[in-house]
Amino acid sequence: LLRGVLGARAAELAERVGVAAGARIVVATALVRDGRVLAAQRTRPAALAGRWELPGGSVETGESEDAAVARELREELGADVVACGRLGTDLPIDAGLLRVHLARLRPGSAEPAALEHAAVRWVDAAGLATLDWVDADRAVLPDLCAVLGT
Ligand code: C5P
Repeated sequence: LLRGVLGARAAELAERVGVAAGARIVVATALVRDGRVLAAQRTRPAALAGRWELPGGSVETGESEDAAVARELREELGADVVACGRLGTDLPIDAGLLRVHLARLRPGSAEPAALEHAAVRWVDAAGLATLDWVDADRAVLPDLCAVLGT
């Protein structure tokens, strides 16, 4: 038990040092419903326009990752979601570290809409491979495939 507590504490401290050193955390969200995940098509920057991502964005100072997931999806999709755990490992990106979180729509939420994206699309496991994903997100597709099932 003690080792578990110390381990968790060490991980938290390491994370704080990392964040202090400028390793920005970006959350990406695998919003799952009925065996499908919501993919969103980027509009910017020009190099990424047209490519698909799991929606999300930077965690703000003092904000939990779960709160960042809910805030970003409210801003980008007009949807009310609840984060429900991590998916895959940390992915290094230019901006820092990308962490994928699973999420579900809260009952009564509006249908997700492309408020800041070119389009949004619900895709099943077979559909994942048909989209041109941004590089970082591509790494989580096998884990996502397992979550969505066949
Ligand atoms: O969306 P935004 O521009 O705020 O994202 C910040 C950084 O995180 C960008 O470099 C973007 O490419 C990256 N990102 C990513 N995959 C996502 C979301 C963001 O690689 N699903």
